[in-house]
Amino acid sequence: MDKLLEIKDLSVRLLTAYGVARGVRGVSLEVGEGEIVGIVGESGCGKTLTAKSVLGLHNAERTEVGGQMIYRLKSGETVDLAALSQRDFQKIRGGEISMVLQDSSTSLSPIITVGRQMEDVILAHRDIKRPEARAVAAELLESVGISEPQMRLKCLPGELSGGQLQRICIAMAISSEPRLLLCDEPTTALDSVTQAQILALLKKLSKERNMAVLIVTHNFSVVKRICDRVYVMYAGLIAESGTADEVTKSPKHRYTADLLKSIPDAETKGRLESVAGALPDVYGDIAGCPYAPRCKSACEGCLKSVPVTEFTPTHFAACVKGGGQNG
Ligand SMILES: Nc1ncnc2c1ncn2[C@@H]1O[C@H](COP(=O)(O)OP(=O)(O)OP(=O)(O)O)[C@@H](O)[C@H]1O
Ligand code: SF4
Ligand SMILES: [Mg+2]
Repeated sequence: MDKLLEIKDLSVRLLTAYGVARGVRGVSLEVGEGEIVGIVGESGCGKTLTAKSVLGLHNAERTEVGGQMIYRLKSGETVDLAALSQRDFQKIRGGEISMVLQDSSTSLSPIITVGRQMEDVILAHRDIKRPEARAVAAELLESVGISEPQMRLKCLPGELSGGQLQRICIAMAISSEPRLLLCDEPTTALDSVTQAQILALLKKLSKERNMAVLIVTHNFSVVKRICDRVYVMYAGLIAESGTADEVTKSPKHRYTADLLKSIPDAETKGRLESVAGALPDVYGDIAGCPYAPRCKSACEGCLKSVPVTEFTPTHFAACVKGGGQNG
């Protein structure tokens, strides 16, 4: 699979009144063309900051982004997204990379029909007239599984359900035919049946359009359902990465193993264990394994820098205990 995006040692430093918050401390990850990749981790570990970096959505005056994000354009040329100006990002947003958020529908105007808003987005990216844009909007609604599209286009957002609105936001995000769709917790606000439908929709669209999806989630059941590969994040760093099967069936980092036990999953039987303790202070330095203060298996070696171990050509983890079950 050809590489579409390669993030190398990404850091995000937020300049706040309390000091410099180190939200992302050195993330490296890859997304192949048409591949569905997950970033999973608990609240505050840096998932959203990582996704926002790819689209240059930080407040430029209060954020320092370091590292590289090498992206291959439709033309075949590569660009370093980390070095782009806001002006250059405008050319990337939409046509190359697009984003769907947990609460995307809040960005819709409540007083303008869905059809009009979809047409505006389509017209921003295509050289066509409004009646044609209307037809494209109806086609897109059909492709995201909305019945009677012509009727829905006349509705105001308030006349539609949360699941329908999320489908509409996905339709808008793919209207510019992006090659990479970033999804930040796209199903968290939805009930479990609608969640499953939206995930199936993302998988279908990815396959049909050879569109890569980078999906941010705190829920391993999302990973199991649609991801080809996954990166487990902790304290602004990657703890483990591998195929969805490798990481969920044979975790090599103690944090991954604890997270798998603690996160609600339809397949989990019995009581869930919660991961005791909290993430390290985002303003402080981290020496050794960031999970050490919470890890039941921590030993002296964990307080020094922990190297990344390769378990298979696709499976990596930064844990001294590796796959060992004891200790
Ligand atoms: N604008 C900001 N100013 C200061 N700190 C921030 C800012 N944005 C994020 N952070 C901090 O950076 C860290 C990572 O934030 P991020 O939003 O990426 O987490 P997340 O993994 O997406 O969490 P969640 O699952 O809750 O959405 C958190 O500690 C957060 O408090
Ligand atoms: S490196 Fe050590 S502290 Fe970190 S997860 Fe592995 S065993 Fe626990
Ligand atoms: Mg987030």
